[in-house]
Amino acid sequence: MEIAYVLLFALTFFLLGLLRRVAIRAKTARTTAHCPHPNSVLGNTLEFIRNRRRFFDWYTDLLRASPSGTIEASAPPPAELIGDGLFAADGRLWSLQRKLASHAFSSRALRRFNDGVLAAHLHHRLLPFLDAAAAKGNGGVDLQDALRRFGFDAICHVAFGVVQSSSSLVQGGAKNDEALFAAFDAALEISFRRALTPATWLRRLTKLLDVSKSRRLREAVDVIDRHAFSVLDSKQAARQIRDGGDPDLLSRFMAAMDEEEDGGSDLGAMFPNPHAKRRFLRDVVVGFVLAGKDTTSSALTWFFWLLAANTRCDRRVHEEVAAAGDDVKAMHYLHAAITEAMRLYPPVPFNGRVALADDVLPSGAAVREGWHANYSAYAMGRMEEIWGKDCMEFVPERWLGAGGEFVPVDAARYPVFHAGPRVCLGKEMGYVQMKTVAAAVIRRFRVEVVSPLANMEMPPALRDDCDDENEGRAVGAACEAAGRVC
Ligand code: HEM
Repeated sequence: MEIAYVLLFALTFFLLGLLRRVAIRAKTARTTAHCPHPNSVLGNTLEFIRNRRRFFDWYTDLLRASPSGTIEASAPPPAELIGDGLFAADGRLWSLQRKLASHAFSSRALRRFNDGVLAAHLHHRLLPFLDAAAAKGNGGVDLQDALRRFGFDAICHVAFGVVQSSSSLVQGGAKNDEALFAAFDAALEISFRRALTPATWLRRLTKLLDVSKSRRLREAVDVIDRHAFSVLDSKQAARQIRDGGDPDLLSRFMAAMDEEEDGGSDLGAMFPNPHAKRRFLRDVVVGFVLAGKDTTSSALTWFFWLLAANTRCDRRVHEEVAAAGDDVKAMHYLHAAITEAMRLYPPVPFNGRVALADDVLPSGAAVREGWHANYSAYAMGRMEEIWGKDCMEFVPERWLGAGGEFVPVDAARYPVFHAGPRVCLGKEMGYVQMKTVAAAVIRRFRVEVVSPLANMEMPPALRDDCDDENEGRAVGAACEAAGRVC
């Protein structure tokens, strides 16, 4: 989710960079990209303000109206949030990390560890929490919040190898862990809002004086750093005593960078001193937490919301889950329903890259050096040309073959996990988590949506009327999708 926020606001910033855009357009007479509001003075600004609460749907409308399926905007590079971790790195630093991480993600040890983490967090936290909510009767529960906390604790456990309890999911959850959860949210939220506007003198001043949001951002990053470094140091100390061979991601990276394993020593050699290496390891794990923190919970929240609104699909999922026992691999309809939920509401609705050199897209649209080439998985999931006339309907059956088996499609058609060499490494892990949680919840509870949305549009990602107290709270993907479990 947060990856999407950053990219979304980077784009927004671009749309507001009008003067630069005008200058660039003059150079690109050959582009076939659609320029939806070619007002040479105001560009898209008024339209953007009018549509800011339905940004993704506005963007989808613009793409639908473009004959080539592309629209034109320009921008500076996005704000850097996650240091030198896998997401932000390029070139050799990325390829060495990718190789190491690919081995880690495909290892049996990590899979087994992930399964154990999932089972523990599910049976000792999420389900008991929902049991208690259901026992209370009509009160309702913020299902999205519960799933986010579950997802956060689970990914922190897999990434750092330590048990987190961020949460209201456990009675008296640890204060430090709650602070870490809040720090991740606050850091991303403030960065997200900042990407909306260019850095003004006021922002520079608040940074210099360490006040206001600059201070809150610094404090949030400090909390994250303190946690990451303390885990790193204790793992380092433990390794000096024993060779534990712990399967979590951080331990694997630490071990590989000291050894001739999976190119890890080449990666280690890229850092001139222990301090730089320690900082890099911090970036690596923080990146993993960001990758897994809100993606699966967003997909699951929409899944439950869509299921509650579609009785036929709800019935089929229930039947399958009841018949398949604990074997999530055998649950093809569930797999299809989750995939279909992500088609309509992808956890990363918007993504892009910066062009290193002038290029021309297959559509004929010119892309200049330094421009962003963005795509919207949200808009693509709602295109009639790609998904047919029923593209706005929730139809899990579109993913099933004649024998009822799940049939995947090309990543270029369904870029929910990205495509190409940088395709998501946690896709399989994510599906296992989503299916395991969905099956367990479905088997035990009936989820009713308290306030159904009026249509299929994405609710706003942020409230703009929030007071200062609540300012750091992203409403997130499924906005008001609070559920009642019974
Ligand atoms: C529904 C769940 C998920 C979705 C929709 C999703 C989506 C994505 C997308 C769109 C990207 C490309 C980002 C970019 O390069 O701009 C990505 C990359 C990545 N994802 Fe996921 N993700 C999910 C779950 C996870 C989980 C649970 C993990 C585990 C930590 C994970 C790990 C990664 C990693 C490491 C990359 C970076 C790959 C690279 O740059 O080489 N993802 N994911």
